Amino acid sequence: MLYGRIIGWGKAVPDKIVTNADLEKMVDTSDEWIVTRTGIRERRIAPEGVNTSTLSVLAAQAALTQAGLIPADIDLIIVASSSPDHLLPAVSSEIQHQLGANCGAFTLVAGCTGFVYSLVTAQQFIATGAYRTILVIGAEVISRNIDWTDRNTCVLFGDGAGAVVMQASEEPTGVLSFELGSDGSGAEHLMMPLGIAHPATHDAVDKKYQYIRMNGREVFKFATRTLARSAAETIGRSGLSIHDIDLMIPHQANARIIELAARQLGLPLEKVFVNIDKYGNTSAASIPIALTEAIEQGRVKEGDKLVLVGFGAGLTWASAVVQFGLAEKPVMTGWRAAPTRTVRAAQNKISVVARTASMRASLMLVPLYTRVSRKQRSEEKSNGNGQSK
Ligand code: UT7
Repeated sequence: MLYGRIIGWGKAVPDKIVTNADLEKMVDTSDEWIVTRTGIRERRIAPEGVNTSTLSVLAAQAALTQAGLIPADIDLIIVASSSPDHLLPAVSSEIQHQLGANCGAFTLVAGCTGFVYSLVTAQQFIATGAYRTILVIGAEVISRNIDWTDRNTCVLFGDGAGAVVMQASEEPTGVLSFELGSDGSGAEHLMMPLGIAHPATHDAVDKKYQYIRMNGREVFKFATRTLARSAAETIGRSGLSIHDIDLMIPHQANARIIELAARQLGLPLEKVFVNIDKYGNTSAASIPIALTEAIEQGRVKEGDKLVLVGFGAGLTWASAVVQFGLAEKPVMTGWRAAPTRTVRAAQNKISVVARTASMRASLMLVPLYTRVSRKQRSEEKSNGNGQSK
């Protein structure tokens, strides 16, 4: 059995800070309302030209550096996002290209829950032995999907990206257990209506279908029903008890939801990571950003057992018990045991050139192959009914 060890982590947030006081000038709200109802004090907002791919690449580079890897080492990229640069192609391919990686990439959409879904998905590819090193990103520039005149939503969200590198290990580590959930009957409570059902017509834009609309109260009720229950279920599946959990890293949507979940679970607040005050709700990016900060602040140590738990649009939820493990020295033999980054970068370049050459060579064989099969077909025809011998 192979396990997915987390060996790298990183985050990227825009420089621009929008405080509650700034929002007081834009909509009918107050710092007091926002802080007491949500715990948010400020959020980061991406300027024009900074997109989900931009923040993703920065977070990914930080995670790769932490892991001591280069983009050529990545076997697969999974990106959780609901605010892709474009509707097509998937933002994961744009990230793969900008990063200079040479591997498969796909985007996973499960609202704010997307990162936990993606981490669990990465673990499955590693457990089967299909891939060895996977980059998992949660990233959003959700501020572009916000109606900045709607006080119900504009005070809540922020932009950012977080990434982890997961690598195959024989040590029992990484995702020890998980639960993934979905209840589409609650879809209307949190949605951005634009899409195939409502294409981008003038009428759709007039109706503000390009913006997130949310029934906050319903999502709040759903979250308080789901978060603690799902975390408890997943802790049980791992064979651990709540006392074995060193830190809970929940989706950062509302400090009240987080505190209630901790109380329901019987987890002291010192064992819960909260950074919503600085970033607001960064949707799929919130858990990897929080995980990165928790590690940076020394709140996570080698071997610690974490519970990651998220909820969001769908409605969806997901939780995972993750054992944190630092990087083992990569096991490399022969010419791959090159010690310096420069040599490894050259190695990367050679592998890209070799792959391109081999692709070109196989393309050159296509006409030859076509000619052979045409010849075969005409021989078969002249031999009778055209069935192969
Ligand atoms: O990632 C998942 C996405 N979303 C969430 O997790 C959100 C979950 N829901 C929540 O966090 C909370 O429901 C909110 C923070 C959105 C709202 O808090 P609440 O305590 O549930 O407030 P409420 O919806 O019950 O609204 C209370 C009042 C309303 O006024 P009336 O109808 O009582 O007169 C709102 O219009 O607060 C008003 N209100 C505001 N007032 C000042 C709503 N937004 C604001 C605002 N500033 N920004």
